[in-house]
Amino acid sequence: MRITVPAADTVLDPDSVDLFDPALYATGDPHAVWHVLRARSPVHKQTLPDGRSFWSVTRYRDVNDVLRDHTRFTSSKGTLLSILGSPDPAGGKMMAASDPPVHTAIREPLMKVMSHRALIDRQPQIRRIVHRTLLGQLLDGGVWDVATAAADFPMAFTGTLMGLPERDWPRLTRLTTMAIAPTDSEFQEGSGHATLVAAHHELFDYFSRFVRRHRGGDDDLVGYLCAMDANGRKLRHDEIVYNCYSLLLGANVTTPHAIASSVLALIEHPAEYRRLLADPTLVATAVEEGLRWSSPANHFMRYAVRDLKLHGTQIRAGDALVTWLGSANRDEDVFADPYRFDVGRRPNRHVAFGFGPHYCIGAPLAKIALNLLFEEIVRIVEHFEIAGPVEHLESNFVAGIKRLPLTARLRDGGEELLRDAVQEGMSVR
Ligand code: HEM
Repeated sequence: MRITVPAADTVLDPDSVDLFDPALYATGDPHAVWHVLRARSPVHKQTLPDGRSFWSVTRYRDVNDVLRDHTRFTSSKGTLLSILGSPDPAGGKMMAASDPPVHTAIREPLMKVMSHRALIDRQPQIRRIVHRTLLGQLLDGGVWDVATAAADFPMAFTGTLMGLPERDWPRLTRLTTMAIAPTDSEFQEGSGHATLVAAHHELFDYFSRFVRRHRGGDDDLVGYLCAMDANGRKLRHDEIVYNCYSLLLGANVTTPHAIASSVLALIEHPAEYRRLLADPTLVATAVEEGLRWSSPANHFMRYAVRDLKLHGTQIRAGDALVTWLGSANRDEDVFADPYRFDVGRRPNRHVAFGFGPHYCIGAPLAKIALNLLFEEIVRIVEHFEIAGPVEHLESNFVAGIKRLPLTARLRDGGEELLRDAVQEGMSVR
């Protein structure tokens, strides 16, 4: 998605905006649209030509209000615009598409193996993945497409965590992107609808066979899902399959774009990159700012459980509400100078990982990986430069970058550091 700084006097008729259209996020200017909606129509209704409609919630506090309260806003009927108005077959089975108590029964045991404490020992392994799958390509000295390279990165650590065979990773990466950007010409296999259906079918079939063949044991996340105690019972086969899908999708379609967008922001704000080089202790706040800046998960949806008012607007039971996380993360009532990219921003209570009971369960893993990656970038790269057109993903769900060709000048001694690290990464897996 293009990340812009809207002019304070942006003129736009809220009734003319189409937040459903995936093309808006590839070639349009969603930040300008959200800027106007936050000011003039913070709870805004859009009706599609086929009669389906949804409310767009664009202010930080309203977004949090919707995401925090499952008693008023349910996840069990679907949480993505792509299935607006159709019942979600994963409802009540997949953690992301369920409410307590089902949600809690799956989430609590999973949190034990996905917490920062449980995953921190994987740091050396993830650092090797950083060198092998991403930064090693800098040794070629030519044009490096960071967006393409980053697309394979989460599969390497989530695939390993889940115990998925490496030979399957490229196809799984493509299928997860097809599922979230089915109208993007690069990922289309048939019409948009056919692409979505085919991706879901192949992914569910893959996990169904994988789970059946799994020998059990909790050496990996899939085995753990099969064996874990979900409030006094084991998960059924379909529940395990849905949650495998959700874990893989959650990791694959978001993390690459946090990387590419953060690198692009550092190129576009060279003084902020110099600040980071001068003080690498800023990496942690820079990663958070990259997450706020890029907000890779663009929206999540809920349905109103009963008639209620939000920000004074009457919502009816069954109405869909879409929370735009990228908009909440630019709310001028919450973030000082929200359109400034500031690697040292504090406080930074962004909602890139959501808010409330469904707060991203993969956030500790994503943060470990992003921190390691940017620590290494700062150790190795002196300067980046854009080397070709930047291309954005056509998706209303993921704010993504498909191509970010660049060249890099390495720091003194950076090449040796990188060469050694890549060799180590190849020898130990
Ligand atoms: C930069 C990376 C990531 C971003 C921006 C992100 C964003 C989000 C957001 C906004 C939600 C909230 C959904 C809702 O409210 O309905 C969420 C939930 C979730 N994420 Fe992530 N995610 C990231 C990485 C990951 C990773 C690495 C994994 C898995 C290893 C993952 C798996 C999940 C799952 C399973 C949920 C559902 C949690 C629940 O319903 O309780 N995510 N993510």
